[in-house]
Amino acid sequence: MITINENYLKLQDSYLFSTIAKKVTKFQEENPDKKVIKLGIGDVTLPIVPIVGKAIKEATEEMLKKETFRGYGPEQGYDFLREKIAINDYQKLGITIQKDEIFVSDGTKCDTGNIGEIFSKDNIIAITDPVYPVYLDTNIMAGRTGDYHPNKKQYEKVVYLETTAENNFIPELPKEKVDMIYLCFPNNPTGTVLNKLELTKWVTYAKQNKAIILFDGAYEAFIEEEGIPHSIYEIEGAKEVAIEFRSFSKTAGFTGLRCAYTIIPKELKAYTQKGKEVNLNQLWSRRQCTKFNGVPYITQRAAQSIYTKEGQKQIQENIQYYKENAKRIRQGLQKAGYTVFGGKNAPYIWLKVPNGYTSWEFFDYLLETANIVGTPGSGFGPSGEGYFRLTAFASKENTIEAMERIQNLK
Ligand code: MLT
Repeated sequence: MITINENYLKLQDSYLFSTIAKKVTKFQEENPDKKVIKLGIGDVTLPIVPIVGKAIKEATEEMLKKETFRGYGPEQGYDFLREKIAINDYQKLGITIQKDEIFVSDGTKCDTGNIGEIFSKDNIIAITDPVYPVYLDTNIMAGRTGDYHPNKKQYEKVVYLETTAENNFIPELPKEKVDMIYLCFPNNPTGTVLNKLELTKWVTYAKQNKAIILFDGAYEAFIEEEGIPHSIYEIEGAKEVAIEFRSFSKTAGFTGLRCAYTIIPKELKAYTQKGKEVNLNQLWSRRQCTKFNGVPYITQRAAQSIYTKEGQKQIQENIQYYKENAKRIRQGLQKAGYTVFGGKNAPYIWLKVPNGYTSWEFFDYLLETANIVGTPGSGFGPSGEGYFRLTAFASKENTIEAMERIQNLK
């Protein structure tokens, strides 16, 4: 008899963004005359920048010629891209990252989901609450959590680090001992950040407890304030305790092209049950060689092109465009009387839903009355209840229209 991985049965409903997509499709089918504005999933809307398009064309030309055609590439990524990442994303911050500490991949969702494979099922995980659902769901699938408690809306064996307006969205260090700590800053979904001092506390905790930090820096390009770390490796000693994930998705509009990377420093160790040190860089490399055949050559050439002077200029223009949308949303919501957070160093705006609504009720209200799609805070965890997320990734025109519609609701 074929049996299943029963951990999957512990998962709640469907994946958050699929649930939303289904609801929106149903609404659109029932209301074909309504123009729905989508500020839900954080997907970019501007086309790829010209230099990326040029790189794709050139790389395609190479693939069409016998002399320059490429088959399988290195599983960890081509050196031409890894070198650019090391110089531009790290050396410029005063951080030394070797190219063989960089693993190019097809997305941070996959990397943050897959990384759990190299860690024991017995580790205790800590996640911020609310959180990007992938961190929790993949740990449920792996059997690292216990059962779900419908009353608390929490899983056993998971340490939830509340991040709400009450603590200024700064998670407290866990009172109990945890092993795998997921941190995402600038944060998805709250759009808030941690300063150097706060991040240092986590690095110190991880060192003291022989824990590991899984640091998702997918939104780093949106940071504008001084003193906010762009990389966890800006904190002294972080290379001994942290893996960092970065993505080209939001930085360079690659959500459809797919390219990201993960840094696993060689200093980073974890342990066998008997306490023997194991090098995680080698373990992950072994995993990738077995299960992954690398990112397409054309995509990696496209990613490389953003590290030219012209490439940086072009992607910065797009980032600024989204940042202006974030500002419009912040100001527009404030004008309509909402309490808002985030949206300064991140493309996400986190708002308090009006009294009397749950997050999902507010989702329905906004969809039905203003034809705007957002993401209910409770979809990101129990502490997200009472909040709602909007993204800055729509077009300027739609963002302006969405704010007008919300203001007119009042
Ligand atoms: C989000 O909306 O939270 C993100 O787009 C999801 C993702 O990057 O996978």
